[in-house]
Amino acid sequence: MTYQIRDVCGRRIDYARISVTDRCNFRCVYCMPHDGVPPLAHDEIMRYEDIIFLCQALSDLGVRKIRFTGGEPLVRKGIVPFLGAFKASFPDISASLTTNASLLGRYARELASVGLSGINISLDTLDPEKFRFVTRRGDMAQAMDGISAALASGIPNIKTNTVPIRGFNDDELPLILSFAWDNGLLPRLIEFMPIGGDVWRKEMFIGEEEILSTLVRHFGALTPQTPDQSAGALPLGPARYYRDAKGRDVGVIAAVSSHFCQTCNRLRITSSGQLRPCLFSNDETPLIGLIRSRDLDGLRSAIVEGMRAKPQRWEQERSGALHMSNIGG
Ligand code: GTP
Ligand code: 5AD
Ligand code: SF4
Repeated sequence: MTYQIRDVCGRRIDYARISVTDRCNFRCVYCMPHDGVPPLAHDEIMRYEDIIFLCQALSDLGVRKIRFTGGEPLVRKGIVPFLGAFKASFPDISASLTTNASLLGRYARELASVGLSGINISLDTLDPEKFRFVTRRGDMAQAMDGISAALASGIPNIKTNTVPIRGFNDDELPLILSFAWDNGLLPRLIEFMPIGGDVWRKEMFIGEEEILSTLVRHFGALTPQTPDQSAGALPLGPARYYRDAKGRDVGVIAAVSSHFCQTCNRLRITSSGQLRPCLFSNDETPLIGLIRSRDLDGLRSAIVEGMRAKPQRWEQERSGALHMSNIGG
């Protein structure tokens, strides 16, 4: 039997983001409080076999793309063999990763051989001191090595994620874009989202309009690109893409100032197996019991049912105490 996941508004859900760990070797200021977030116990986290079983249910339900996230997915032991096992079991599902690049130097080559469809890399600054400040413990040189290794490995579709923060990296945005373009990376600028109320500060927020006017000042007119799935097209997703006169593309993810909820095709599963229909909502459906008892029918039904209640649009007051690292972005 073929099922599909649809919510009450009729949105078809075919993209899943699965967090493979809540742990991270960084403590980015926009993501976590200074002392981090209490880690889940090991036995609360889905095992790799659990995730493969979960993916079977998602595949049956018509999910065609899975992005593995964290925390930092590469800090979890055995992640590369797991991704290999995933691709062997589900060759038709596109698999990608979002990473902070710190461990790409070690893993990029193996990741390329697994057949990933792409990776997204956080890059908030090109200045080593600022890098240390924003990540609280990261090393810029190591991340740069990671980016080089990813480029050399042949992993396709490498994008960068930059969160513009007033007084921190607002003066660096053109530099970061030029760096990305010069290296064949697709840059995206992401509005600072108020997830985890003790981290977000209104005065640090820079909205899409201001981001775009900064870019136009530096690079001249930008033409909005229409989403298009033809070969070689820009990826579909929350980013809106703009092209400068030299044909260089940049994505802006305006999650706060202009919601893209009406076209959202995503579900999320936290590392402890909680289904989250929306990044900004605290609604969760626990799937871990059904996963661990290998109840495929029950699991598919719980996912379909849990997703029906996907909020129609983001309501800020619903975002609760969870941090990005718990949800997987
Ligand atoms: P692809 O479209 O698969 O490349 O993924 P992506 O760009 O959505 O993934 P990535 O993990 O790089 O996330 C980039 C930013 O988009 C992060 O800040 C995410 O939190 C944010 N994001 C991803 N999905 C959603 C969503 O459904 N809603 C909102 N508001 N933000 C999202
Ligand atoms: N607002 C916007 N983006 C965020 N990320 C983490 N926290 C936030 C936030 N509060 C982004 C990081 C990373 C991606 C997974 O999520 O830039 O690239
Ligand atoms: Fe870790 Fe990514 Fe959060 Fe930074 S944004 S602390 S790298 S999970």
